[in-house]
Amino acid sequence: MLKGVLNVAVLLQRRVILQETKSVCRVAQCRTISCGKWDSQAAPGRDLGQHQKAKMAKGLPKKAPIDGVKNVIVVASGKGGVGKSTTAVNLALALAVNDKAKSVGILDSDVYGPSIPRMMNLKGPVYVNEQGLLQPLVNFGIKCMSMGFMTDEKSPIVWRGLMVMSAIQRMLKQVEWAPLDYLIVDMPPGTGDAQLTLAQTIPIDGAVIVSTPQDIALLDARKGAEMFRKVDVPVLGLVQNMSVYECPKCGHREHIFGQDGASKLGEEMSLDILADIPLHLSIRETSDSGQPIVMSDPQSPQVCGTLLFCLNACTYSVLPPVEL
Ligand SMILES: Nc1ncnc2c1ncn2[C@@H]1O[C@H](COP(=O)(O)OP(=O)(O)O)[C@@H](O)[C@H]1O
Ligand SMILES: [Mg+2]
Ligand SMILES: [Zn+2]
Repeated sequence: MLKGVLNVAVLLQRRVILQETKSVCRVAQCRTISCGKWDSQAAPGRDLGQHQKAKMAKGLPKKAPIDGVKNVIVVASGKGGVGKSTTAVNLALALAVNDKAKSVGILDSDVYGPSIPRMMNLKGPVYVNEQGLLQPLVNFGIKCMSMGFMTDEKSPIVWRGLMVMSAIQRMLKQVEWAPLDYLIVDMPPGTGDAQLTLAQTIPIDGAVIVSTPQDIALLDARKGAEMFRKVDVPVLGLVQNMSVYECPKCGHREHIFGQDGASKLGEEMSLDILADIPLHLSIRETSDSGQPIVMSDPQSPQVCGTLLFCLNACTYSVLPPVEL
């Protein structure tokens, strides 16, 4: 137990040191990649990255925290189907189970493909309280909000970017979230409007990037991580999902999608691997039937040992370590 906690502490220290090294690298990169051409407004020797950020921020609403919400963690990746929602749900539950005094919520920001209603076994309608705030639906003690509560599961949402952005703003600011210790945001795939709206509307304490070990998923995971860094959201690390197939009958393990893709990416981007979650039948079954594994089979050794420990590690930078 103690060893686990110590490992996490070392991990955090490393992260702080790396964070410092990284910001130096980023400045250096900004000065070299522009093929000798400087932006006319950027004085030589100045941090071009900062200049671009200032430019990007012009005309945007000022970031303001969500009333009564202490920490916001986003679970993201470039690609769909890699396990973001599964990780987000189990992360939220792991946080709540580990410390019963903590209140946790999940915001499903995947407007086009919401998974939280099914994974958390919840269904609309959503009611509005006297102050005009949407009331989150609750299961396993977790407050949840999703577009899926307000639409029919089978009909597609055909919206333009602006509508997606305003839906996300509403789910962030006009929901009765308070009081919450942690709001976990389940992100849609990609690096588009939804991600930017979030990053520019509220302060985010950390992003967890989920990827499978294939090159194609890692390529997108890299883009996701880079996007968060660009908008000054600390990337807590990578979760490698479905790296090893574990046969539920004999326990035989096979690396179907390759073995160390995420570690290579982690090295390249100076990011820690926070979790290596096996591809396991029980994770799929429990996720898709609305009984997330952290709740339904907390003793499951192969699955939950890793999952709980790693999820704990994911969030270490925003919460004190918990012994598992
Ligand atoms: N480690 C895993 N083992 C088995 N199935 C998994 C695992 N992680 C996710 N899944 C399943 O894969 C599918 C996609 O996962 P999901 O979390 O919805 O991905 P995303 O949110 O990235 O699109 C779901 O059916 C889910 O149950
Ligand atoms: Mg999802
Ligand atoms: Zn087998």
